[in-house]
Amino acid sequence: MDEVLSSKNILERFSLKDRSALVTGGAQGIGRALAHALADAGAAVAVVDMDLALANVVVDEIKERNVGSQVIALKADVTNQSEVFAMVDEVVKTFGKLTIACNNAGIGQWIDAETMPYADWKRMMDVNLNSVFLCAQAEAKYMLASGYGKIINTASMSGYIVNYPQNQSHYNTAKSGVLSLTRSLGAEWADRGVRVNSISPGYTKTALVGDLLKTEIGQKVGPVWIAQTPQKKMGAVTDLQGAVVYLASEASDFMTASDIVVDGGYLAW
Ligand SMILES: NC(=O)c1ccc[n+]([C@@H]2O[C@H](COP(=O)([O-])OP(=O)(O)OC[C@H]3O[C@@H](n4cnc5c(N)ncnc54)[C@H](O)[C@@H]3O)[C@@H](O)[C@H]2O)c1
Repeated sequence: MDEVLSSKNILERFSLKDRSALVTGGAQGIGRALAHALADAGAAVAVVDMDLALANVVVDEIKERNVGSQVIALKADVTNQSEVFAMVDEVVKTFGKLTIACNNAGIGQWIDAETMPYADWKRMMDVNLNSVFLCAQAEAKYMLASGYGKIINTASMSGYIVNYPQNQSHYNTAKSGVLSLTRSLGAEWADRGVRVNSISPGYTKTALVGDLLKTEIGQKVGPVWIAQTPQKKMGAVTDLQGAVVYLASEASDFMTASDIVVDGGYLAW
């Protein structure tokens, strides 16, 4: 049997029909775009966020864009273990299964290391790294039992480099941790059907980044970022949608413990 000739059409292999997904931090920014992309490709989607009102807005948008799609909003703080496990249970109860999980919620902060309160360091580790472990553990409970699953963590190009000119040692360290956790879990669960990969965005224009760029410091930093990026622009949240559908679909089934960088060429310089 020739596997090229006998395989399903490649666009069919990108379809997410009959799959169910959750996206943490799905109420805005990158997570909102990931949730839309998964729904566009046919998945049932749970939009998970601390901000339930905003998550519900995304649910309404998705229902309007993809009439008939199954989509729900759930409130959970991804740093809270019992809320995370209850959220995953609720997704499985509602959709009957969990195939795709995007662990995307995260925060940013610019602060110098020499004066950083320890509480800020710990908060960053909690939200941007520990939460990814908690979510993956809760999601894997179902995925390992069913023998199939796609975990997609949002890392960052900051996991590879140190951003300039803003100081954010805790953020960069947490994102390096997300890359390592992705490789570790991907390897640990590789022979049990659960794929764990990440997406590393470069500078990506969300509403919050847009607001920041309008401030005095943003006016100084924005042009530096663009000069450092070979494509000479920031990414749009829609630039990440192809990568998430690929990682969520059967088209990427041989990929695990790895990362897709979407950064306009930043890491090449
Ligand atoms: N925007 C960028 O340039 C960029 C670049 C690289 C990586 N990232 C990463 O992408 C992810 C999303 O970033 P974004 O720019 O879309 O941010 P954003 O602030 O626009 O959205 C983040 C969402 O996460 C939610 N959230 C925050 N803490 C939470 C918690 N404890 N529990 C549940 N929800 C929580 C917020 O309510 C918000 O809706 C983050 O992990 C971020 O580090 C962003």
